[in-house]
Amino acid sequence: MNITVRVWRQSGPDDAGSLVSYDVPDVSPDMSFLEMLDVLNERLILDGEEPIAFDHDCREGICGSCGVVINGQAHGPQRTTSCQLHMRSFSDGDTIDVEPWRSRGFPVIKDLVVDRSSFDRIIQSGGFITAPTGAAPDAHATPVPKPDADLAFENATCIGCGACVAACPNGSAMLFTSAKIAHLNALPQGQPERESRVLEMVSTMDDEGFGGCTNTGECVNSCPKGIPFASIVNMNKEYLRALRKR
Ligand code: SF4
Ligand code: FES
Repeated sequence: MNITVRVWRQSGPDDAGSLVSYDVPDVSPDMSFLEMLDVLNERLILDGEEPIAFDHDCREGICGSCGVVINGQAHGPQRTTSCQLHMRSFSDGDTIDVEPWRSRGFPVIKDLVVDRSSFDRIIQSGGFITAPTGAAPDAHATPVPKPDADLAFENATCIGCGACVAACPNGSAMLFTSAKIAHLNALPQGQPERESRVLEMVSTMDDEGFGGCTNTGECVNSCPKGIPFASIVNMNKEYLRALRKR
């Protein structure tokens, strides 16, 4: 396949940035999207040009670091991470636009790399439990009802990629935050901080500049891990419950 990519190039946070067009010939349909960028970067380096900065780590859909907007969609046309997207999802002759996440909560550092430390600060404000130290308890020492375990596990699959924020017209981080809250609030081990967790994490989410939810649902459509809209509903319930108990 011969394709053209129009990539957002921005030398630093204060640069205005613009889309720059590159022809990429002989692209294998079996390449991942990031491998296609690797090939382009090798050529840029050989030509003495600055390679395109993009974030990545596991390249297995686990770490959540690789998110970019591809043709206007967070992570591109498939419901998966950018690293798990393959070039067979495109056609010979296509022109593909590649941009960073765009949100007040995710300022651009360089090219396609954004600062997602706002997510770290949301986690730090409540994404933990208090447990006695010492030897590991027996696996069955704390019974967890199966529905609660399933709910916690479903929400624990959030990889913190930020696609939900990038896809939301309000730049809302409510799907991410609600997943982290539901993961721990569903478990017996998460009960001591149940109220403070939701109050602190929502407060930090607001302080970091993320918008509110207006039930658009684009977050759910773009989430590579299938975190459901019910998690946001659950977070709102938990928030009201915590306010009543305060
Ligand atoms: S909720 Fe989904 S889209 Fe949002 S950060 Fe978690 S895995 Fe990514
Ligand atoms: S590089 Fe880890 S999820 Fe894509």
